[in-house]
Amino acid sequence: MERIRSNSPCWCGSGAKFKRCHGNRRLLQRAPVALGSVSPPRPVPDHIVRPAYVAGDATPPRTVQVQDDESLARLRHACRVAAEVLLVAGDAVAPGVTTDDLDAIAHDAYVERGAYPSDLHYNGFTKSVCTSVNGVICHGIPDDRPLEDGDIVNIDVTAFIDGMHGDTSATFAVGDVDEPTLALIETTREATLRGIAAVAPGEPLRRIGEAIEPFARSRGFTVVREYGGHGIGEVFHAAPHVHHHVEPGDDLPFRAGMTFTVEPMLLSGGTSFTQADDGWTEHIDDAMPSAQFEHTVVVTDDGAEILTVTADGASAAGTELPVSGGRVA
Ligand code: MF3
Ligand code: CO
Ligand code: CO
Repeated sequence: MERIRSNSPCWCGSGAKFKRCHGNRRLLQRAPVALGSVSPPRPVPDHIVRPAYVAGDATPPRTVQVQDDESLARLRHACRVAAEVLLVAGDAVAPGVTTDDLDAIAHDAYVERGAYPSDLHYNGFTKSVCTSVNGVICHGIPDDRPLEDGDIVNIDVTAFIDGMHGDTSATFAVGDVDEPTLALIETTREATLRGIAAVAPGEPLRRIGEAIEPFARSRGFTVVREYGGHGIGEVFHAAPHVHHHVEPGDDLPFRAGMTFTVEPMLLSGGTSFTQADDGWTEHIDDAMPSAQFEHTVVVTDDGAEILTVTADGASAAGTELPVSGGRVA
């Protein structure tokens, strides 16, 4: 798959030049998102079990996470809760709703299910989800900024229950969003699912980036290199580091039972970004929008299974590659 050029015909088949169609930078451009004020951390009832880091205790080593039947059942539960919380919070996305409102809704949804919000007091983060709006690549802190018609927002949910972390995120459109930005969202969703579809036991880790990066570039988007997916289970962020771009040296073979996340961030403009003074929010420097999706997966005997789904197999991040998306392999 070739990188699309501005004067090439658009990938969508309209016949128009890419720069006049889905590559129209004027439509993609947004005002930078200003940081708002952050409310105090929300309380978690005492009966809900906390991960060790909340009390400042040492976490288990960040080694590759491989599950047996017993631990996989517990991880499935944590992932199901995360998928449910993401659906609940995503349903609340609308113009006028603040990201702190989304945090409150998600927080209650974790607690109702007996789960601890893994983000809360993780390395000093004080909210229960990350909310990343428009040109915020990741780790946005929920605040009092109301979402505006035409924004996009990623909600990243991690639930800790039964000793396991389940991690999932999706990017949602707020009201009416222009077509090039919707395409960024849908391309990122498809890239995530293509990355997951490339996983099989015995294959090297780099298959994920090989599936994601050329696909993203064929639609005029780039992939963030500085953040990756991660092993997950008993530990929130464990080995391996999962690149979403092509990294020829990533030769660790997948093996059945391995659990990790796939969570690419795609960019529609320049690739340089800057961390805000809050120590978390990563702002793209040109304010062009970025989108992200995330699933927690387990390697099976012949591929990978998405764990971050509801009991009915649903997810706000999607689970099925679009039929129109063309060949996956
Ligand atoms: N859920 C994020 C991830 O996908 C991590 C958030 S850590 C926080 O890995 F501290 F920012 F919440
Ligand atoms: Co996450
Ligand atoms: Co993650």
